[in-house]
Amino acid sequence: MRKILAAGNWKMNNTPSQAEAMINELKGKVAGCKNDVLICPTYVCLPAAVKAAEGSNIKIGAQNLHFEDKGAFTGEISAQMLKEIGVEYVIIGHSERREYFAETDDTVNAKVIQALKYDLIPVLCCGESLKQREDTITFDFIRSQIKIAFRGISKEDAVKIVVAYEPIWAIGTGKVATSEQANEVCKDIRECLAGIYDEETAANIRILYGGSVNKDCAAELFAMSDIDGGLVGGASLKPDDFSIICNA
Ligand code: PGA
Repeated sequence: MRKILAAGNWKMNNTPSQAEAMINELKGKVAGCKNDVLICPTYVCLPAAVKAAEGSNIKIGAQNLHFEDKGAFTGEISAQMLKEIGVEYVIIGHSERREYFAETDDTVNAKVIQALKYDLIPVLCCGESLKQREDTITFDFIRSQIKIAFRGISKEDAVKIVVAYEPIWAIGTGKVATSEQANEVCKDIRECLAGIYDEETAANIRILYGGSVNKDCAAELFAMSDIDGGLVGGASLKPDDFSIICNA
C-alpha cells in the first residue's frame, strides 16, 4: 500500500529564521496528518529546518546534491553532508535544474545512485515541455528520462525512490494538469517501471504529481489510481494552504 506524500519544494525562498518560523507554524497544522509530509528548503535553511521539525511528523529534504563523495567541486554539497545534518530526502533532476543548471539524464542517474548510497530518499523529477506535449511525444520522452534515471539501480533500491511527474508547462504557471492527464502519465511511468523491474516493484514505487498543485485540486489529484501525492512549489510557501494539501 503506497502512502501519500505531500512534498513542499520551497525553491530559492525563505531565510533560515523564516524557515524555522514557517515549520513551527506548519507543525501544529499537520500534526496527526495521515499522509507523509516533507519540506525541502534551500541548503542554508536545512539545519534550522531539521531542528524546527524535530519531534514532529515533518521530514526534511534538500533540493539537490552532488554525485561525487567529496573533492574539488566548488559550491557543491555532498550526500554525506546532508546525511550528517539529518536530511532524509533529496529532490533530484527538477526541471529548473535541468534548464538553468545543465543537468542531464546522466547526471540525474548519478545523483540518484549517490543519494541511495547514503540512504537519502531521492525525489526524482521528470516531465515534458509544452512543445513535447504538443508534438505528442510526452510518453516517449518521459519513458526515456525514467529509463536513464533508474539505470543500474536494483529493484530493492528502486522501491525507495519517489518519482515526481511534473509537466514543465504546469510548473509555476497556475495551469494544473487535469487529474486524468496527470494520472495517465503517472500510470505510464508505472508501466515503464514494471517493464524495467516487475509489476510488484512498480506497484510499490510512489509517483507524485507536481505543477501548480493547490489546496483546491490536491484531493482530486491524490485520489487518482496512480498518483501518490504531490510535489508542491508555490502553495507550500503558505502554511494554511500547504496543510490543506497535506491533509488531502
Ligand atoms: P509549483 O511548483 O507548485 O509552484 O507549480 C512545483 C515544482 O516546481 O515542484
